[in-house]
Amino acid sequence: MNDHRKILIFESGDKLLDFALEKWRGISGEAIKDRGRFVVALSGGKTPVGLYRKLAGLKDGLPWDKTDIFLVDERFVPFDDAESNYGMIKDELLSRVSIPAGKVHPVSTREDSLQDAAKKYEKDLKEFFRLNVGKFPEFDLIMLGIGEDGHTASLFPGTSSLAENERLTIAVSLNRLKNKRISLTLPVINNAKNIIFLVAGENKAKVLKEIIEREKSLLPASRVKPEQGKLFFLLDKSAGAYLSHYLKFT
Ligand code: 6PG
Repeated sequence: MNDHRKILIFESGDKLLDFALEKWRGISGEAIKDRGRFVVALSGGKTPVGLYRKLAGLKDGLPWDKTDIFLVDERFVPFDDAESNYGMIKDELLSRVSIPAGKVHPVSTREDSLQDAAKKYEKDLKEFFRLNVGKFPEFDLIMLGIGEDGHTASLFPGTSSLAENERLTIAVSLNRLKNKRISLTLPVINNAKNIIFLVAGENKAKVLKEIIEREKSLLPASRVKPEQGKLFFLLDKSAGAYLSHYLKFT
């Protein structure tokens, strides 16, 4: 069992998002105090949209000029495509706050091939974090979701992506996916200081039980076990319906 993990179940989706917002505020405040910047990687999908809207709507604002935003994963489509994670994050959050352009680090999907896009994103990460050979970036926070099949980021069950232990990014091309994708790898995710899974909806309850309670689970989300960092599962009560004994908020 991972000692660093905290599992919290909320009465409503709104309370879950409010808690996530406060976690963001706390983690970013601490990172900026200690290192002068807050570096976060964001996921696509539907669950975090409410959080992005709340972040954009904050009256007191956040230190966006000290916040660097990367993506956890991206679909290999233009930014204005409805499937683009960056497009969604831009519409919901980035276009609504005053963040300098240089602090936003999307996955370039203008490259000639999917492989080139993954390599370019890896190069961007190495440059930004000034990484020596063999080192992994240390994000202050990585926001993740979980799919019904147990995928997280664009790391899917039963794929070779799960064994990647050198690259920072991978190209994901699977027949079952509508779009090709680029994803951060597990060693990057597991090197983060903080990881937050945001999960809502009854369709996630079954897979969450396996991920949280079955120690031997090999599902992608089960392999998220930060080396040193903290791991939070923030669930609404439908997603947490099959879990028995975790801290419940009302
Ligand atoms: C993506 C994601 C993916 C997502 C899960 C959960 O690009 O789709 O990064 O890993 O987080 O599929 O998605 P929902 O929040 O929509 O359930």
